[in-house]
Amino acid sequence: MKRTVYVFIVSENGLLWERFLQGRRNQRADLEGPFYVLGSPYRTLSPGKAVLASNEDFKEPANHPFVFTLQILSPSQQPLPNTTIDIWQASTVGEYYFKMYRLRGKCVTDADGKVEILTVAPGMYGPKGHERAGHFHLKISPPSTGIEGLTTQVYVCEGNNAKWLKTDFLNAIRKTRTQNILRAYSVPPSSPTTSETEPYMSFPPLQSTTIPMSTSLSTQESDTDHNKKQVDDHEKEEQKIKRLVESVKWWNEWLDEQCEEDAETTESREDRLKVWACGEDVLELNYV
Ligand SMILES: [Fe+2]
Repeated sequence: MKRTVYVFIVSENGLLWERFLQGRRNQRADLEGPFYVLGSPYRTLSPGKAVLASNEDFKEPANHPFVFTLQILSPSQQPLPNTTIDIWQASTVGEYYFKMYRLRGKCVTDADGKVEILTVAPGMYGPKGHERAGHFHLKISPPSTGIEGLTTQVYVCEGNNAKWLKTDFLNAIRKTRTQNILRAYSVPPSSPTTSETEPYMSFPPLQSTTIPMSTSLSTQESDTDHNKKQVDDHEKEEQKIKRLVESVKWWNEWLDEQCEEDAETTESREDRLKVWACGEDVLELNYV
């Protein structure tokens, strides 16, 4: 009992955590919070794919399907396959569950160090004026003993805007984790008549068309490095969008199949069960 109390005080004391513990070692770390439950089951569907939300979650019309893609890299930026990710989150209306491991589970990265997780968008929760933006909690355990695991939270903010982190009551004990905001995209409806046309949570729409290059490229020779970086970033963004478009297409087909098998899931919702939004994040671990 004494040890449990000691571990809680040391690991979740924001000042210690930020100055001496993981908050200092890895800028993407975040506090574990009090809602972690040990022993959640694996949610693997196939290599690199996992389903965290259950039929029960999808039947709730307030829950909005979300695909969260995560890539785990080694300290030398190599993909880390076979890394276990223990993930837990609130529902879209900001509710945590403590029975039956609902919206809790483990998944494993594939050969590219990636895993796509079909779940529901996490909602805001907390006392009025001190709300926390929706987020995924993650405990990442790499297979290699020379690499340190990571506990963190990845935030889903309306419009991908950091202002939604301002009220976070954890800001009182550690710096605001703006670096942990997921860049999320809304998935436009396949037909304008099937759903609302406003982008979900004001996220930029996921479009497979070529993204226009920024017009701010300089012609000055001294800015060549800067321009090259801009071009590289632009290409990376285009590649990411293409991956996400393919991923959403795959998951929408999977959801269609599930709905055919379980008509009840579809009947309980007025909207077609489809992915509303998605995002991809990359986390780099540290050496021990
Ligand atoms: Fe939380």
